[in-house]
Amino acid sequence: MSFDVERARIQTPGCGERIHFNNCGAGLMPVPVIDALKTHIDLEARIGGYEAADAADDKVRNSYSALARMLNCNPGEIAIVENATRGWDMAFYSLDFKVGDRILTCSAEYVSNYVAYLQVARKTGALVETIPDDADGAVDVDALRNLIDERVKLIYITHVPTNGGLVNPAAAIGAVAREHGIPFLLDACQSAGQMPLDVEALQVDMLSATSRKYLRGPRGMGFLYVREALIPELEPPFIDLRAATWTAPGEYHLLDDAGRFENWECNVAAKIAMGTAVDYALEWGLEDIEIRIAALAGALREGLAALPGVTLRDRGSRQCGIVSFTVEDRAPADVVAGLNFRGINLSVSQATSTQLDMHARGLDALVRAGVHYYNNEDEVARFLAALEEVIAK
Ligand SMILES: Cc1ncc(COP(=O)(O)O)c(C=O)c1O
Repeated sequence: MSFDVERARIQTPGCGERIHFNNCGAGLMPVPVIDALKTHIDLEARIGGYEAADAADDKVRNSYSALARMLNCNPGEIAIVENATRGWDMAFYSLDFKVGDRILTCSAEYVSNYVAYLQVARKTGALVETIPDDADGAVDVDALRNLIDERVKLIYITHVPTNGGLVNPAAAIGAVAREHGIPFLLDACQSAGQMPLDVEALQVDMLSATSRKYLRGPRGMGFLYVREALIPELEPPFIDLRAATWTAPGEYHLLDDAGRFENWECNVAAKIAMGTAVDYALEWGLEDIEIRIAALAGALREGLAALPGVTLRDRGSRQCGIVSFTVEDRAPADVVAGLNFRGINLSVSQATSTQLDMHARGLDALVRAGVHYYNNEDEVARFLAALEEVIAK
Protein backbone atom coordinates (compact mmCIF):
# COMPACT_ATOMS: atom_id res chain seq x y z
CA MET A 1 0.00 0.00 0.00
CA SER A 2 1.44 3.37 -0.94
CA PHE A 3 1.78 6.00 1.76
CA ASP A 4 -0.30 9.14 1.20
CA VAL A 5 2.53 11.60 1.77
CA GLU A 6 0.57 14.47 0.23
CA ARG A 7 -2.22 14.06 2.77
CA ALA A 8 0.35 13.91 5.58
CA ARG A 9 1.94 17.13 4.32
CA ILE A 10 -1.38 18.95 3.96
CA GLN A 11 -2.09 18.07 7.60
CA THR A 12 1.34 19.38 8.69
CA PRO A 13 1.41 23.19 8.50
CA GLY A 14 5.13 23.33 9.28
CA CYS A 15 5.92 21.60 5.96
CA GLY A 16 5.17 24.91 4.23
CA GLU A 17 7.79 26.75 6.25
CA ARG A 18 10.99 24.73 6.35
CA ILE A 19 12.52 21.39 5.44
CA HIS A 20 12.12 19.82 8.84
CA PHE A 21 14.70 17.05 9.36
CA ASN A 22 14.82 17.56 13.12
CA ASN A 23 12.20 14.99 14.06
CA CYS A 24 14.65 13.41 16.48
CA GLY A 25 14.67 16.79 18.25
CA ALA A 26 10.96 17.52 17.98
CA GLY A 27 8.59 16.42 15.20
CA LEU A 28 6.12 18.80 13.56
CA MET A 29 2.65 18.58 15.09
CA PRO A 30 -0.16 17.68 12.66
CA VAL A 31 -3.45 19.63 12.53
CA PRO A 32 -5.50 17.31 14.81
CA VAL A 33 -2.85 17.59 17.54
CA ILE A 34 -2.62 21.37 17.19
CA ASP A 35 -6.43 21.57 17.33
CA ALA A 36 -6.63 19.39 20.43
CA LEU A 37 -4.09 21.55 22.19
CA LYS A 38 -5.71 24.84 21.25
CA THR A 39 -9.24 23.63 21.95
CA HIS A 40 -8.39 22.74 25.52
CA ILE A 41 -6.46 25.93 26.17
CA ASP A 42 -9.44 27.91 24.85
CA LEU A 43 -11.74 25.92 27.14
CA GLU A 44 -9.51 26.64 30.14
CA ALA A 45 -9.56 30.34 29.28
CA ARG A 46 -13.36 30.32 28.99
CA ILE A 47 -14.51 28.19 31.91
CA GLY A 48 -11.46 27.74 34.18
CA GLY A 49 -8.66 25.19 34.37
CA TYR A 50 -10.16 22.75 36.87
CA GLU A 51 -13.59 22.96 35.26
CA ALA A 52 -12.08 22.39 31.80
CA ALA A 53 -10.24 19.30 33.07
CA ASP A 54 -13.53 17.89 34.39
CA ALA A 55 -15.31 18.67 31.14
CA ALA A 56 -12.55 17.00 29.12
CA ASP A 57 -12.26 13.91 31.32
CA ASP A 58 -13.09 11.57 28.41
CA LYS A 59 -10.31 13.07 26.33
CA VAL A 60 -7.83 12.69 29.18
CA ARG A 61 -8.82 9.06 29.59
CA ASN A 62 -8.42 8.57 25.87
CA SER A 63 -4.72 9.43 26.19
CA TYR A 64 -4.23 6.40 28.45
CA SER A 65 -6.23 4.08 26.23
CA ALA A 66 -4.50 5.33 23.07
CA LEU A 67 -1.07 4.70 24.61
CA ALA A 68 -2.25 1.30 25.83
CA ARG A 69 -3.39 0.42 22.30
CA MET A 70 -0.05 1.51 20.89
CA LEU A 71 1.96 -0.48 23.42
CA ASN A 72 -0.40 -3.46 23.71
CA CYS A 73 -0.91 -3.06 27.46
CA ASN A 74 -3.62 -1.90 29.91
CA PRO A 75 -4.32 1.78 30.53
CA GLY A 76 -3.56 1.17 34.23
CA GLU A 77 0.02 0.29 33.28
CA ILE A 78 0.59 3.80 31.87
CA ALA A 79 1.81 6.87 33.75
CA ILE A 80 1.70 10.20 31.92
CA VAL A 81 4.46 12.55 33.03
CA GLU A 82 6.34 15.64 31.85
CA ASN A 83 8.91 14.02 29.60
CA ALA A 84 10.71 10.78 28.83
CA THR A 85 13.43 11.38 31.41
CA ARG A 86 10.96 11.93 34.23
CA GLY A 87 9.19 8.69 33.28
CA TRP A 88 12.47 6.83 33.13
CA ASP A 89 13.58 8.34 36.48
CA MET A 90 10.37 7.30 38.19
CA ALA A 91 11.03 3.71 37.14
CA PHE A 92 14.76 3.66 37.79
CA TYR A 93 14.73 5.44 41.16
CA SER A 94 11.92 3.15 42.35
CA LEU A 95 14.27 0.18 42.19
CA ASP A 96 16.39 -0.71 45.22
CA PHE A 97 20.08 -1.18 44.62
CA LYS A 98 22.75 -2.23 47.09
CA VAL A 99 26.52 -2.74 47.09
CA GLY A 100 27.62 -5.07 44.32
CA ASP A 101 24.31 -5.08 42.42
CA ARG A 102 24.98 -4.91 38.69
CA ILE A 103 23.15 -2.70 36.19
CA LEU A 104 23.78 -3.71 32.57
CA THR A 105 23.45 -1.05 29.95
CA CYS A 106 24.55 -0.33 26.40
CA SER A 107 27.17 1.83 24.71
CA ALA A 108 24.50 4.03 23.10
CA GLU A 109 23.35 5.15 26.52
CA TYR A 110 21.73 8.60 26.84
CA VAL A 111 23.25 11.23 29.12
CA SER A 112 20.27 11.80 31.42
CA ASN A 113 19.94 8.10 32.16
CA TYR A 114 23.64 7.52 32.58
CA VAL A 115 24.14 10.35 35.08
CA ALA A 116 21.33 8.78 37.10
CA TYR A 117 23.26 5.47 37.12
CA LEU A 118 26.37 7.27 38.24
CA GLN A 119 24.49 8.95 41.04
CA VAL A 120 22.88 5.72 42.23
CA ALA A 121 26.17 3.84 41.87
CA ARG A 122 27.89 6.46 44.05
CA LYS A 123 25.15 6.37 46.67
CA THR A 124 24.62 2.62 46.85
CA GLY A 125 27.78 0.89 45.61
CA ALA A 126 25.91 -0.69 42.69
CA LEU A 127 27.97 -1.25 39.54
CA VAL A 128 27.16 0.02 36.05
CA GLU A 129 28.46 -2.15 33.22
CA THR A 130 28.28 -1.75 29.47
CA ILE A 131 27.26 -4.72 27.36
CA PRO A 132 29.72 -5.01 24.43
CA ASP A 133 28.54 -4.12 20.92
CA ASP A 134 28.38 -6.64 18.10
CA ALA A 135 30.34 -6.06 14.88
CA ASP A 136 27.60 -3.71 13.59
CA GLY A 137 27.49 -1.58 16.74
CA ALA A 138 24.25 -2.93 18.24
CA VAL A 139 24.00 -4.59 21.66
CA ASP A 140 25.62 -8.03 21.41
CA VAL A 141 22.93 -10.34 22.76
CA ASP A 142 25.35 -13.28 23.20
CA ALA A 143 27.68 -11.05 25.20
CA LEU A 144 24.69 -10.00 27.32
CA ARG A 145 23.91 -13.66 28.01
CA ASN A 146 27.49 -14.22 29.19
CA LEU A 147 27.29 -11.29 31.61
CA ILE A 148 24.23 -12.55 33.46
CA ASP A 149 24.60 -13.73 37.05
CA GLU A 150 22.51 -13.47 40.22
CA ARG A 151 23.86 -9.96 40.95
CA VAL A 152 22.35 -8.41 37.78
CA LYS A 153 19.43 -6.30 39.07
CA LEU A 154 18.47 -4.40 35.93
CA ILE A 155 18.99 -4.49 32.19
CA TYR A 156 18.48 -1.08 30.73
CA ILE A 157 18.82 -0.34 27.00
CA THR A 158 18.24 2.63 24.74
CA HIS A 159 16.21 1.32 21.81
CA VAL A 160 17.25 4.01 19.33
CA PRO A 161 20.11 6.23 20.48
CA THR A 162 19.92 9.99 20.24
CA ASN A 163 22.96 10.13 17.93
CA GLY A 164 22.19 7.84 15.00
CA GLY A 165 20.07 5.36 13.11
CA LEU A 166 20.87 2.24 15.13
CA VAL A 167 17.91 0.17 16.35
CA ASN A 168 18.98 -2.09 19.20
CA PRO A 169 17.58 -5.66 19.25
CA ALA A 170 15.12 -4.96 22.06
CA ALA A 171 13.05 -8.14 21.65
CA ALA A 172 16.12 -10.41 21.83
CA ILE A 173 17.36 -8.53 24.90
CA GLY A 174 13.89 -8.78 26.45
CA ALA A 175 13.93 -12.54 25.92
CA VAL A 176 17.22 -12.86 27.85
CA ALA A 177 15.93 -10.62 30.64
CA ARG A 178 12.69 -12.61 30.92
CA GLU A 179 14.51 -15.95 30.91
CA HIS A 180 16.53 -14.81 33.93
CA GLY A 181 13.75 -12.89 35.71
CA ILE A 182 15.66 -9.60 35.51
CA PRO A 183 13.67 -6.36 35.04
CA PHE A 184 14.15 -4.85 31.59
CA LEU A 185 13.78 -1.07 31.16
CA LEU A 186 13.64 0.25 27.60
CA ASP A 187 14.25 3.89 26.67
CA ALA A 188 11.96 4.18 23.64
CA CYS A 189 12.22 7.96 23.44
CA GLN A 190 13.38 7.97 19.80
CA SER A 191 11.54 4.85 18.66
CA ALA A 192 8.01 5.74 19.88
CA GLY A 193 6.08 6.93 16.84
CA GLN A 194 8.51 5.66 14.24
CA MET A 195 8.03 1.90 14.66
CA PRO A 196 5.66 -0.56 16.38
CA LEU A 197 6.33 -0.97 20.12
CA ASP A 198 4.53 -3.99 21.54
CA VAL A 199 5.54 -4.53 25.17
CA GLU A 200 4.55 -8.21 24.99
CA ALA A 201 6.61 -8.90 21.88
CA LEU A 202 9.54 -6.90 23.28
CA GLN A 203 9.16 -8.50 26.74
CA VAL A 204 9.92 -5.19 28.43
CA ASP A 205 8.91 -4.53 32.03
CA MET A 206 9.22 -0.75 31.89
CA LEU A 207 9.34 1.60 28.93
CA SER A 208 9.69 5.37 28.77
CA ALA A 209 9.17 7.76 25.86
CA THR A 210 8.38 11.32 24.94
CA SER A 211 5.53 13.02 23.12
CA ARG A 212 7.38 15.59 21.06
CA LYS A 213 9.65 13.55 18.77
CA TYR A 214 8.46 10.88 16.32
CA LEU A 215 5.03 10.79 17.97
CA ARG A 216 4.49 14.38 16.84
CA GLY A 217 2.79 15.40 20.07
CA PRO A 218 3.32 18.61 22.05
CA ARG A 219 6.43 19.39 24.06
CA GLY A 220 6.58 18.87 27.83
CA MET A 221 4.87 15.46 27.85
CA GLY A 222 6.07 11.89 28.16
CA PHE A 223 4.96 8.56 29.48
CA LEU A 224 6.08 5.47 31.35
CA TYR A 225 4.79 1.93 30.97
CA VAL A 226 5.25 -0.44 33.92
CA ARG A 227 4.15 -4.08 33.78
CA GLU A 228 1.23 -4.64 36.17
CA ALA A 229 2.97 -7.39 38.14
CA LEU A 230 5.92 -5.12 38.88
CA ILE A 231 3.95 -2.05 40.04
CA PRO A 232 3.36 -3.18 43.65
CA GLU A 233 7.12 -3.74 44.09
CA LEU A 234 8.02 -0.18 43.08
CA GLU A 235 7.94 2.65 45.63
CA PRO A 236 8.29 5.89 43.63
CA PRO A 237 11.13 8.20 44.73
CA PHE A 238 8.68 11.04 45.38
CA ILE A 239 4.93 11.08 45.69
CA ASP A 240 2.06 13.52 45.97
CA LEU A 241 -1.72 13.54 46.30
CA ARG A 242 -2.10 11.96 42.85
CA ALA A 243 0.30 9.11 43.57
CA ALA A 244 -0.97 8.40 47.07
CA THR A 245 -3.94 8.92 49.39
CA TRP A 246 -3.20 10.29 52.86
CA THR A 247 -5.35 7.73 54.63
CA ALA A 248 -4.63 8.71 58.27
CA PRO A 249 -2.28 11.25 59.92
CA GLY A 250 0.54 8.72 59.94
CA GLU A 251 -0.43 6.66 56.87
CA TYR A 252 -0.60 6.82 53.11
CA HIS A 253 -1.66 4.40 50.44
CA LEU A 254 -0.05 4.40 47.00
CA LEU A 255 -2.25 4.00 43.95
CA ASP A 256 -2.30 0.38 42.86
CA ASP A 257 -1.76 1.24 39.21
CA ALA A 258 0.87 3.24 37.32
CA GLY A 259 -0.79 6.45 38.52
CA ARG A 260 1.62 6.15 41.49
CA PHE A 261 4.38 7.40 39.15
CA GLU A 262 2.46 10.54 38.15
CA ASN A 263 2.00 13.88 39.82
CA TRP A 264 -1.23 15.76 40.27
CA GLU A 265 -0.59 19.06 38.54
CA CYS A 266 0.00 18.71 34.85
CA ASN A 267 -0.54 20.33 31.48
CA VAL A 268 -3.97 18.91 30.65
CA ALA A 269 -4.02 20.38 27.13
CA ALA A 270 -0.71 18.68 26.31
CA LYS A 271 -1.87 15.45 27.92
CA ILE A 272 -4.96 15.37 25.71
CA ALA A 273 -2.96 16.37 22.63
CA MET A 274 -0.41 13.59 23.22
CA GLY A 275 -3.31 11.12 23.13
CA THR A 276 -4.47 12.68 19.87
CA ALA A 277 -0.93 12.28 18.49
CA VAL A 278 -0.95 8.60 19.42
CA ASP A 279 -4.36 8.08 17.78
CA TYR A 280 -3.08 9.89 14.71
CA ALA A 281 0.03 7.69 14.50
CA LEU A 282 -2.11 4.57 14.91
CA GLU A 283 -4.37 5.73 12.08
CA TRP A 284 -1.37 5.89 9.75
CA GLY A 285 -0.17 2.56 11.14
CA LEU A 286 3.20 2.18 12.81
CA GLU A 287 4.31 -0.63 10.46
CA ASP A 288 3.60 1.61 7.45
CA ILE A 289 5.25 4.57 9.16
CA GLU A 290 8.40 2.53 9.78
CA ILE A 291 8.55 1.36 6.16
CA ARG A 292 8.04 4.89 4.82
CA ILE A 293 10.69 6.37 7.14
CA ALA A 294 13.18 3.61 6.29
CA ALA A 295 12.76 4.30 2.55
CA LEU A 296 13.33 8.02 3.00
CA ALA A 297 16.27 7.57 5.37
CA GLY A 298 17.73 5.03 2.91
CA ALA A 299 17.50 7.59 0.08
CA LEU A 300 19.14 10.21 2.27
CA ARG A 301 21.97 7.87 3.26
CA GLU A 302 22.53 6.91 -0.37
CA GLY A 303 22.75 10.56 -1.40
CA LEU A 304 25.07 11.43 1.47
CA ALA A 305 27.37 8.50 0.71
CA ALA A 306 27.87 9.89 -2.81
CA LEU A 307 29.00 13.33 -1.58
CA PRO A 308 32.76 13.87 -1.34
CA GLY A 309 34.04 14.35 2.22
CA VAL A 310 30.86 13.04 3.85
CA THR A 311 31.09 10.04 6.19
CA LEU A 312 27.93 8.30 7.33
CA ARG A 313 28.03 7.46 11.04
CA ASP A 314 24.96 5.27 11.54
CA ARG A 315 25.55 1.91 13.14
CA GLY A 316 23.55 -1.30 13.32
CA SER A 317 22.14 -3.75 10.79
CA ARG A 318 18.62 -2.43 11.45
CA GLN A 319 18.44 1.33 10.98
CA CYS A 320 15.69 3.93 11.40
CA GLY A 321 14.97 7.55 10.49
CA ILE A 322 17.91 9.19 12.26
CA VAL A 323 20.72 9.76 9.78
CA SER A 324 24.06 10.82 11.24
CA PHE A 325 27.17 11.98 9.42
CA THR A 326 30.27 14.13 9.53
CA VAL A 327 31.93 16.27 6.86
CA GLU A 328 35.69 16.22 6.46
CA ASP A 329 37.41 19.29 7.93
CA ARG A 330 34.10 20.89 8.89
CA ALA A 331 32.73 21.21 12.40
CA PRO A 332 29.22 19.68 12.65
CA ALA A 333 27.95 22.98 14.12
CA ASP A 334 29.12 24.87 10.98
CA VAL A 335 27.42 22.38 8.68
CA VAL A 336 24.18 22.64 10.65
CA ALA A 337 24.38 26.45 10.71
CA GLY A 338 24.87 26.49 6.91
CA LEU A 339 21.85 24.25 6.40
CA ASN A 340 19.71 26.18 8.91
CA PHE A 341 20.52 29.33 6.94
CA ARG A 342 19.13 27.58 3.85
CA GLY A 343 15.82 26.81 5.56
CA ILE A 344 16.64 23.28 6.72
CA ASN A 345 16.14 22.17 10.32
CA LEU A 346 18.49 19.59 11.75
CA SER A 347 20.82 19.41 14.73
CA VAL A 348 24.21 18.58 16.16
CA SER A 349 24.63 15.65 18.52
CA GLN A 350 27.47 16.29 20.95
CA ALA A 351 29.68 13.64 22.52
CA THR A 352 28.37 14.65 25.95
CA SER A 353 24.96 13.18 25.01
CA THR A 354 26.28 9.67 24.38
CA GLN A 355 29.81 9.65 25.84
CA LEU A 356 30.49 5.93 25.73
CA ASP A 357 29.70 5.46 22.07
CA MET A 358 31.13 8.76 20.80
CA HIS A 359 34.42 8.38 22.65
CA ALA A 360 34.81 4.81 21.45
CA ARG A 361 34.45 6.11 17.90
CA GLY A 362 36.68 9.15 18.46
CA LEU A 363 33.86 11.60 17.69
CA ASP A 364 33.30 14.96 19.41
CA ALA A 365 30.06 15.69 17.60
CA LEU A 366 28.11 14.72 14.50
CA VAL A 367 25.34 16.07 12.31
CA ARG A 368 21.94 14.50 12.93
CA ALA A 369 19.06 14.55 10.46
CA GLY A 370 15.86 12.78 11.50
CA VAL A 371 13.37 12.24 8.68
CA HIS A 372 9.69 11.46 9.17
CA TYR A 373 6.98 10.04 6.93
CA TYR A 374 5.71 13.51 6.01
CA ASN A 375 9.09 14.47 4.54
CA ASN A 376 9.43 13.74 0.85
CA GLU A 377 11.97 12.81 -1.81
CA ASP A 378 12.05 16.36 -3.12
CA GLU A 379 13.15 17.58 0.31
CA VAL A 380 15.88 14.94 0.39
CA ALA A 381 17.16 16.17 -2.99
CA ARG A 382 17.03 19.82 -1.85
CA PHE A 383 18.81 18.89 1.37
CA LEU A 384 21.61 17.17 -0.55
CA ALA A 385 21.98 20.13 -2.93
CA ALA A 386 22.12 22.56 0.00
CA LEU A 387 24.73 20.41 1.73
CA GLU A 388 26.85 20.38 -1.41
CA GLU A 389 26.70 24.17 -1.41
CA VAL A 390 27.70 24.32 2.27
CA ILE A 391 30.59 21.94 1.68
CA ALA A 392 31.81 23.92 -1.34
CA LYS A 393 31.94 27.22 0.60
C1 LIG B 1 17.45 8.32 23.55
C2 LIG B 1 16.85 9.42 24.36
N1 LIG B 1 16.42 9.16 25.60
C3 LIG B 1 15.87 10.11 26.38
C4 LIG B 1 15.75 11.40 25.91
C5 LIG B 1 15.16 12.43 26.84
O1 LIG B 1 13.86 12.78 26.47
P1 LIG B 1 13.11 13.97 27.21
O2 LIG B 1 13.83 15.23 26.79
O3 LIG B 1 11.69 13.92 26.75
O4 LIG B 1 13.25 13.75 28.66
C6 LIG B 1 16.19 11.73 24.64
C7 LIG B 1 16.07 13.11 24.14
O5 LIG B 1 16.64 13.53 23.17
C8 LIG B 1 16.76 10.71 23.83
O6 LIG B 1 17.19 10.97 22.60
